[in-house]
Amino acid sequence: MEGTTLSADSLPSRLVIDYRNATAAGVGDLDGVTDADLDSVVEQVRSAHERIAREHESQVQLWQDLPDNMALADEIAQFASRARERYTDFILIGIGGSTLGAIATIQALTHPYRNLLHPELRGGPRFFVLDNPDPEKVTATLDTVNLETTLVNVVSKSGQTAETAANFLVVRDAMYEALGPGQARKQIVASTDPESGLLRQMADQEGYRTFPVPPGVDGRQTVLSAVGLLPAALAGVDIHAMLAGARAMRARASSADVRENPAYLLAALSVLSDRKHGKSMLVTMPYADSLFGIADWFRQLWAESLGKKLSVDNEVVNAGQTPIKALGAIDQHSQIQLYTEGPNDKLLQLIAVERYRDAVNIPSPPDGISELGYLGGGELGQLLDRERLATSWALTEAQRPNLTISVPTIDPGIVGEFFYLFQLQTVMAGALYGVNPFGQPGVEAGKNATYALMGRIGYEDLRAELLAEPNDSDSYVNRP
Ligand code: PA5
Repeated sequence: MEGTTLSADSLPSRLVIDYRNATAAGVGDLDGVTDADLDSVVEQVRSAHERIAREHESQVQLWQDLPDNMALADEIAQFASRARERYTDFILIGIGGSTLGAIATIQALTHPYRNLLHPELRGGPRFFVLDNPDPEKVTATLDTVNLETTLVNVVSKSGQTAETAANFLVVRDAMYEALGPGQARKQIVASTDPESGLLRQMADQEGYRTFPVPPGVDGRQTVLSAVGLLPAALAGVDIHAMLAGARAMRARASSADVRENPAYLLAALSVLSDRKHGKSMLVTMPYADSLFGIADWFRQLWAESLGKKLSVDNEVVNAGQTPIKALGAIDQHSQIQLYTEGPNDKLLQLIAVERYRDAVNIPSPPDGISELGYLGGGELGQLLDRERLATSWALTEAQRPNLTISVPTIDPGIVGEFFYLFQLQTVMAGALYGVNPFGQPGVEAGKNATYALMGRIGYEDLRAELLAEPNDSDSYVNRP
């Protein structure tokens, strides 16, 4: 699978969305989106489309331009091709939008056991991620890599995220000690704001090579910038083909018509399912292990973008639809019971793969085990896909709305399409909910409390408030 390439310039879009089972035609008009529902948002979608275009012209929706930055893609590909020769290990340090896109890309497009492959088969360094400041994981990572031949990429748009800064300080210290500051500095690359922030300051001071996190783009929209592209290129992904896929989806998703534009259609189906049919949860369920990371990346995008207290008119709306990731067929043995018979409060978006990159024939069972005979002569991918079809059918029978996004196979172009599609879907869903999909004000309170508890200067009052024990605090603690 490593190194799968496609002609990078003129890919057609290849995703197919079958949404019948999310509509009244599939599951009835109590649970499915009706034609009248879709008609009711036609004008809202059209005017949001025009507003998004105007905002793009005035430099607000800059994420849409990331697939065009060929100069950056060339620079990254060049850097990566040298680094792939030189380094045995690569540590990506960041959190949330600064790592999830790279993880999703590498999971989708490289060998699932890439780190365990012989270096010649693997091509390029092993890939490690430090996102959580979990001391056990950090220690284990430092125990595993060879620091002399390790490249570190620290990624932070703001440059001050506590988890990223702490993990980086630990790894930096280990590098400086093992290699000496001069050499260690050459093995650290920082991706951050081109001008501001503490990481920018540290990078300039220490002389690290840097790549830009584009200003005007939230962390969760940076997958097609250096944030996602550099780690992907180091793992051997054809980033030009991935960008071409994103451009193909952008071209396809240029209509203002909700029924024609795939991103607007998905946004409308999700929001209408929530608002009019009580589907307050959105499950993304790929039938491919390699696409589980994309479901995880989407989960963050949907949650942080749409989960908003205030509308654009400053009214309290507490909007949002809870995103859930599930994996077919594994979660048929874990979640589907709930999805089929529990509360009817979910819309499922299943992801189907027409042709997996490997085919594994299922041999016939031994004599006397005739009940398993139905499997013999079949193929694993066929079984997995039929399970997807069977699940969709069973959900539909139980009036559980579901739609299916099919891809012909999994390659860089398809991954680029997913990234662009889901981002535009999210922006349009924000418009339909009447909230601003950018920014994440709800995360700030917790971040500030962390700074206060860790003793950051300027947060003394909050620290005092946090450490003050309520009088009755002991009444609510259960101890042995
Ligand atoms: O999507 C977002 O904006 C967030 O999830 C950020 O990516 C995350 O909080 C990390 O922020 P930063 O890149 O500033 O360290």
